[in-house]
Parts: sequence; C-alpha cells; structure tokens
Amino acid sequence: MRSKILLFGSHGQLGWEMQRTLAPLGEVIAFDFPEIDLTKPESLRNVLRDYAPQIIINAAAYTNVDKAESEPELAYRVNAEAPGVMAEEAMRLNAAFIHFSTDYVFDGKKGSAYVETDTPNPLNIYGKTKLSGDLKVQEVGGSFLIFRTSWVYSLRHGGFVTKVLEWARNQETLRIVDDQIGSPTWARMLAEATAQVIAQGRGEPVGYLREKAGLYHLAGSGSCSRYVWAEAILQLDSKKEEQVVTKLLPAKSSEFLTPAERPVNTALECNRSKIIFNITLPCWKFALRLMSQ
Ligand SMILES: NC(=O)c1ccc[n+]([C@@H]2O[C@H](COP(=O)([O-])OP(=O)(O)OC[C@H]3O[C@@H](n4cnc5c(N)ncnc54)[C@H](OP(=O)(O)O)[C@@H]3O)[C@@H](O)[C@H]2O)c1
Repeated sequence: MRSKILLFGSHGQLGWEMQRTLAPLGEVIAFDFPEIDLTKPESLRNVLRDYAPQIIINAAAYTNVDKAESEPELAYRVNAEAPGVMAEEAMRLNAAFIHFSTDYVFDGKKGSAYVETDTPNPLNIYGKTKLSGDLKVQEVGGSFLIFRTSWVYSLRHGGFVTKVLEWARNQETLRIVDDQIGSPTWARMLAEATAQVIAQGRGEPVGYLREKAGLYHLAGSGSCSRYVWAEAILQLDSKKEEQVVTKLLPAKSSEFLTPAERPVNTALECNRSKIIFNITLPCWKFALRLMSQ
C-alpha cells in the first residue's frame, strides 16, 4: 500500500531533499511557509485533518540560532508548539510522526560524543525551544521518531558550507573558529536515511515505527571543528579557481560576539540508529566530497 505522506518544511535544506527521497514511498504532499504557517496551530490542525496522512514528517523549524535570541516566542511556537500539535494530530489520525531535533539541546561540556540518554542543557533559545518540542512529542507518544541531528548542510540556504564558499570568493583571509566541534551532516544523506527507515516498515510504516518509537541520534559519522570543516570545504570546492582566499586561520569563539552562545562540543554518537535500523551515515568528509562533485 502506498502511504499518504505530509511533509512540512519542503523548501528547507532537509525538506527539499526529503521531497525527492520520499517520492518512491507514497503520495507526498509538501508544505512550507507561507502556504502553511506553523505559528497558527488551528490551521495546522485543519491541514492535518483535511489530508489525513499516514505519515507526517516535520522538516520545518525556526533555525536562525542568533535571531531566535530576540524572537523567543516565535521560535517557541515553531519549534515547540507546532511539533506538539503534529504529534497530537498524528495520534488522533493513527499516523506515524517523524520529527528532527538538534545537537544544540546539549551544553557541549561532556567532552565526548553525546548519546540519547545524556541530559540536555541547552545554552541558547534555539536549543531550548527545540528541546521543548522534543519533550512535547515524547509526552504525546504513539508512533513517533525524533532524529536528533547536527550541523546540517546543503547547497541550499545560507548555511555554513555556502557561506564559506562565498567568503572564499570575496576575502583573502578567512578566520574560522576551531573551538566548536560537531558532526557535519549532509541534508541529502539524512533524507535518504529517513526514507530507508520508513521503507523498512514495508507498507506498514505506522506499526513499524510504533515498535521502534523513540529518540535517535542521526548525524554524519565522526566529528571536526568548524575550522577543519572549512578547510575541507575549500579543498573540495569543485570551482577552486574562483577562490581568492589565500589564508585560512583558526580563531576562537570568544573573538566573535554573537547574540546566541554556542556549545563547544556537540558531536553525536549514533550507535542506537545503527543497532535499531542498521543505519549509519557516512563519514562527514566523504559526504562533503560527494556533495562537492
Ligand atoms: N541547520 C542545522 O545546522 C541543523 C542542525 C541540527 C538540527 N537541525 C534540525 O534539522 C531540521 C531541518 O533543518 P534545516 O537546516 O533543513 O532547516 P531550514 O533549511 O532552515 O528549513 C526550515 C524550513 O522551515 C520553514 N519554516 C520556518 N518557520 C516556519 C513557519 N512559521 N511556518 C512554516 N514553515 C516554517 C522555513 O521557511 P523559511 O525559509 O521561509 O523561514 C524553512 O523552509 C530542523 O528540525 C532543524 O532544527 C538543523
């Protein structure tokens, strides 16, 4: 049986890739702002009730980490309240719900990669609102998966990879922090892995995901600093001849004043996804190489 899949955030880095990877699994109905505004719970409920999907996927989020500091209510509505509504409606419709969370729920002080049972302690509004969303979804329960991921990139939107490529074309010297560590995750790999998990349900995804319900870490394998990541981005750039940059220098986070505090080391340990779904995302540098071709 082909499932009816409702996807939110279809213009975002992950949502864009999800549209393509979900297509073989069913009828995909995709929404993004402004067709649907996740700050309006009633219209969200109406859309979900009207379409009555078997699978709901939320790739939408308020992801501007710095701006969230001055728009906490808006971030909370998108990152916490909306996923709560989706989870409730999924329960009501007997649908499966797949949601994405972030490494920024952690304070980065552990000193080694985080596992799912580690206690979150977000340092900024974005992390706090995402954690509230996770808790709401878990409270509702049912057939849900939360994939907590990290440092998502693609060539869409103004993420880190596109920014480094742009700076390299405009500046001779780049200074990039070497005291923030994470697990870069190519949006396409995350989308493919999510589709594989749904496909494992073999036409009965709701029951399958109910059996496997819970929180999972799913990010590119390995970890690196933003400085090392930038170095790899520059090396693997397929249009290197356009670069004007001649020096890449390491810097400290304290040298750049940003509205939101960033955790220092939020590498994610993804063994649980490997054990339960037999899924491991490739090494971050391998994925970056593929994306750069
Ligand atoms: N990016 C990262 O580094 C990162 C790291 C860890 C976890 N994650 C998580 O991974 C997931 C996917 O992230 P991403 O990087 O793909 O995000 P993204 O590129 O920023 O896409 C998010 C999408 O949500 C939409 N959206 C925002 N507010 C909305 C609203 N009020 N109503 C409807 N749609 C709205 C955005 O639309 P507009 O563009 O119009 O605002 C955008 O299309 C999110 O759950 C995020 O928290 C991301």
